[in-house]
Amino acid sequence: MSRSTGAVAGPAATVTVRVPAKVNVQLGVGGLRTDGFHDLANVFFAVALGDEVRAEAGAPGSGIVLTCEGPDAALVPLDATNLAARAAQLLADRHGLAPDVRLHIAKDIPVAGGMAGGSADGAAALVACDALWGLGTPMADLLALAAELGSDVPFALLGGVALGRGRGELLTPLEVSGSFHWVFATADGGLSTPAVFRECDRLREEAGTGSSDTDVPTPDPSAVLLAALADGDPVALAGALGNDLQAAALSLRPALAACLAAGTEAGALGALVSGSGPTCAFLAKDEQGAQAVAAALIASGTCRTARATVGPVPGAAVVDR
Ligand code: C5P
Repeated sequence: MSRSTGAVAGPAATVTVRVPAKVNVQLGVGGLRTDGFHDLANVFFAVALGDEVRAEAGAPGSGIVLTCEGPDAALVPLDATNLAARAAQLLADRHGLAPDVRLHIAKDIPVAGGMAGGSADGAAALVACDALWGLGTPMADLLALAAELGSDVPFALLGGVALGRGRGELLTPLEVSGSFHWVFATADGGLSTPAVFRECDRLREEAGTGSSDTDVPTPDPSAVLLAALADGDPVALAGALGNDLQAAALSLRPALAACLAAGTEAGALGALVSGSGPTCAFLAKDEQGAQAVAAALIASGTCRTARATVGPVPGAAVVDR
């Protein structure tokens, strides 16, 4: 992978990185592996809704200091478990550096919402610290570090639309024509990704199909979906949307069904739970259609709020230094 992350040689005093949220237009989930993960056919799609992470050099010995602003800021852990802090620590460790850095997250991606917001901040912190410390780490190495941080972190670096195999970290960029218009309806309260995967396994056991990777075939990407993306055809894409975690998310949060129905009634071409939820994603015909669906969802009272946006957009990139 040779795409630049925007980093240039030489350290900087302050670096700001913008990073997109994702929706999974296909999330095919295989059986539970012995390492606790599931093999996926995961078609990631980066959207314009995103976070910004600003990195500033800290005083020697000050360590990693994390702050956050935004509507969900109170829900963001500001300790060493935060993926942005883990990313700074990992990059510093690999280069034998002291991670003396202040990281400020301007958070717009819903927290625990199924849009990979925490993963996005991890990817953004990797790119920001790389530029701050003047490391010029090649994209392939950043992707490998990102995969150590979490299954969705590499895609936040790459952006665009990509197929994720393995646990989602083995990426192949996909061809897309034009832009697609989306609406995201956020819910009060997040869903835990491991809990949703566990519920998926439980539902499979209950249905008698078994849940291990010897019971469930490894999923493949949908040819119809890939063609719809390449053709820039929202109607065909809407018909091919699929999320194997949706039944599990609805089982844990039955109220999401009303939100999906409200968006469909408002004229969305397609509706699905985003990743492990609880954010619901709606595909619209065009920008005007997306604005209408967002307004109808807000009026329906079935979500906390709804926002229209567009994609695909690029992955984590320096916007100011
Ligand atoms: O990779 P990440 O840390 O984001 O994964 C969080 C959790 O989600 C994992 O511990 C696992 O329970 C679940 N997961 C999974 N299969 C995947 C990705 C995540 O079961 N492919």
